Amino acid sequence: MRLQEARRDLYRKLAKEQGYKSRAAFKLIEANEKYDFIHEGDKVVDLGSAPGGWLQVAASLTGPRGIVVGVDLSDVRLRGEKTVTSITMDVDDPSVLQKVTRVLGGKADGLSSSSSKGRGRGR
Ligand SMILES: C[S@@+](CC[C@H](N)C(=O)[O-])C[C@H]1O[C@@H](n2cnc3c(N)ncnc32)[C@H](O)[C@@H]1O
Repeated sequence: MRLQEARRDLYRKLAKEQGYKSRAAFKLIEANEKYDFIHEGDKVVDLGSAPGGWLQVAASLTGPRGIVVGVDLSDVRLRGEKTVTSITMDVDDPSVLQKVTRVLGGKADGLSSSSSKGRGRGR
């Protein structure tokens, strides 16, 4: 087995053990440890959020005063993350901004995206 596949398997196993929806969760944890861009109370949007690993991590980092919104073509089902709202739609839909802003009650503090439309983060 190649090293990259072994790493993928390891993170998949760890995600399952720790209750994360995807191994992508560890990427966000690592990125936030390095760049410190998601904070308690922040409003965060994840474009391309299924199956929901980043949403889980963002919810944990922003805490009970934070708001996390995910947008994906696929349904995202999370249990227990009370501050997370999932919107099932195309991120290119012109009404997505209005819907997200309504849930957030204003502008986002952070944006993450791992959809094929683009990868990155910003404030
Ligand atoms: C790598 S996965 C995201 C993983 C996710 N961040 C996580 O932590 O579990 C990429 C996602 O982008 C979504 N996606 C791709 N194009 C999209 C679009 N135009 N609108 C909404 N979602 C899109 C796909 O449905 C897929 O679920």
